[in-house]
Amino acid sequence: MRLKDITSRTIPPLSWAEGENIPWNDPDFSRRMLAEHLSQEHNLASRRFEIIDRQVGWIHGELLSGRPTRLLELACGPGLYTSRLARLGHACVGIDYAPEPIRYARDTTAHEGLDCRYRLEDVRNADYGGGYGLVMMIFGQFNVFRRSDACRILEKALSALAPDGILLLEPQKFDTVMKHGQAGSSWHTCGEGGGLFSDRPHLCLTESFWDTDELATTQRFFIVDAGTGAVTRHAMTSEAYTDEQFRDLLTRAGFEDIRFYPSLVGVEVEEESQSANLAIVARKGRR
Ligand SMILES: C[S@@+](CC[C@H](N)C(=O)[O-])C[C@H]1O[C@@H](n2cnc3c(N)ncnc32)[C@H](O)[C@@H]1O
Repeated sequence: MRLKDITSRTIPPLSWAEGENIPWNDPDFSRRMLAEHLSQEHNLASRRFEIIDRQVGWIHGELLSGRPTRLLELACGPGLYTSRLARLGHACVGIDYAPEPIRYARDTTAHEGLDCRYRLEDVRNADYGGGYGLVMMIFGQFNVFRRSDACRILEKALSALAPDGILLLEPQKFDTVMKHGQAGSSWHTCGEGGGLFSDRPHLCLTESFWDTDELATTQRFFIVDAGTGAVTRHAMTSEAYTDEQFRDLLTRAGFEDIRFYPSLVGVEVEEESQSANLAIVARKGRR
């Protein structure tokens, strides 16, 4: 793309038309993103470890009643949850399509001899295997899938669970998705050393749109290389669901006993990376 493609861009963009997600699975992007996952300065790609520790405590103590199980995390990133759950005695499988976070997850858990296996795959196409006591997808990723993919992921999660197994979803609240869509435009520059979207000096233009027909937010990023003026575009659409719509999706997928919690520690929390989402727990039937 060139600079003139920015001035002639479609406003507003059609939801999903310009891209599904930021390039998590690009090797260079995933290398830069791994540093963000591990940073203890913010809660952007993953939360800070002290928050993860508390959330893992809730999953282990409240959801699993402290009993070791086989569990699967979809879109597990660098395995910050699975490695902690494995230390508590669970056998863990993680699937993610970002190469560097998966390499990090494999290295750290192999080094400690933890019962974790990681697969570098797209959760939309991957075979999840079976016999799990818990399948989880956390930190708002569920909303970023098209509704048809989200439904398929739920169906595959149900088949992967053992009878009476638990699904744990932590999607973004309806208002969180809408608020992101109403955030407007902003820009920042990155100098020598680059930033998340490029290793080179660049300008990053960001804009957000709330689609009142689709009830979805599209965030669009134009990365302008400071040396060449070349432009790269990334776009990501997130769908907003009401609690009733979540209940409906889960019921249609075959889940039972659907419960809503205000956060991944079971109670209201003010801190933004936790209050922006809700936790939903659902069960597979006994037969
Ligand atoms: C916000 S990060 C959260 C990672 C992890 N759950 C955590 O909280 O530390 C979202 C993750 O979803 C992964 N992801 C997004 N779309 C995916 C897909 N289609 N298949 C596999 N992984 C995907 C990304 O690679 C990224 O690691």
